[in-house]
Amino acid sequence: MKALILAGGAGTRLRPITHTSAKQLVPVANKPILFYGVEAMVSAGITEIGVIVGDTRVEVMGALGDGSQFGAKITFIAQGQPLGLAHCVLIAADFLGDDDFVMYLGDNLLEQDLGAFVRAFETARKGAEPPTAQILLKQVPDPHRFGIAELDSSGNVIRLVEKPADPPTDLALVGVYLFDKTINEAVRAIAPSPRGELEITDAIQWLVDQGRRVRCERLTGWWIDTGKLTPLLEANRLLLEVIEPRVDGDVDEASSVDGRVVIEAGAVVRNSSLRGPLVIGRDAHIIDSFVGPFTAIGNGCQVINSEVEHSVIMERSRVIDIPRLEDSLIGKEAEVTRSQKRPRALRLMVGDHCQIDTE
Ligand code: TTP
Repeated sequence: MKALILAGGAGTRLRPITHTSAKQLVPVANKPILFYGVEAMVSAGITEIGVIVGDTRVEVMGALGDGSQFGAKITFIAQGQPLGLAHCVLIAADFLGDDDFVMYLGDNLLEQDLGAFVRAFETARKGAEPPTAQILLKQVPDPHRFGIAELDSSGNVIRLVEKPADPPTDLALVGVYLFDKTINEAVRAIAPSPRGELEITDAIQWLVDQGRRVRCERLTGWWIDTGKLTPLLEANRLLLEVIEPRVDGDVDEASSVDGRVVIEAGAVVRNSSLRGPLVIGRDAHIIDSFVGPFTAIGNGCQVINSEVEHSVIMERSRVIDIPRLEDSLIGKEAEVTRSQKRPRALRLMVGDHCQIDTE
């Protein structure tokens, strides 16, 4: 069994961060989203991993390396343009060969271990009616926003629909799929959708239409597609809630630390109050400040005379003299400050596609 992790794409919904960085490398709980996916593959016993990379390939390849840091062997596959999830399978043909594989969307995060999901497919493949694919489904309250599956009475997939106006079920497709080699035929047989992409739902529908069996499994834990700001902060919250507390940094006596808190080595906390769950990265400085629940402060950041809560601050950024910052994502090496002389005036240098809420 191999894995194919998709880490290309346009990432339009996370601009401006994705103007300069890969969305899959945005950290949640101070670890790049993509690393959780690679680790999930390795813990499911899959170490031969292909990674689809797009415009941000240099950064993604630099972060993952050859995979040895995860105990995996990584092969990068370049995608010239983000032409769809099924297009990723098409261009990975040499890497995949005739092997079964897991396809994993690199910006998705799952609570549940994927080992049982993979084993269920392997077991079913040895049975009387071997499936050619297996999808993972999650009940959602707003099915019109997702790819939705319709099942027959024995639980096999009979129809997949993308973002239906009138959803036949509330079972959304989670970004993890299992395929045998038949999918290679499917991705060649389908045509691009009206939005110009080769859709994986169309490829799976093609399998069903050819009379092939497509199994499904239900996901019980949480699942987040982190491609937008609000779900990304939600993923950060869920992962911080289970973080193992650890203080390796330097905290002075005038500071207080409560709840689940990780302070990495080299971090300095002075005259500040930290209320977890939160994480402070390596060499960060927290001075005369309050850092509240569900906050991840990246390596080398400075938070001075400020309050920060429910936010992700990426590495080497500075937050200075800000009375309250919440529900925010701050990119790398950014600076958020407030003039002491004219505290109500906003002085901004704002890049393309930024969102500023001065409520
Ligand atoms: P999406 O989030 O569906 O697409 P996107 O990255 O283009 O984002 P947006 O809609 O905000 O513009 O992609 C899911 C995952 O698959 C994500 O990790 C990017 C990756 N992907 C590819 O690698 N190649 C592709 O052609 C597409 C469409 C996505």
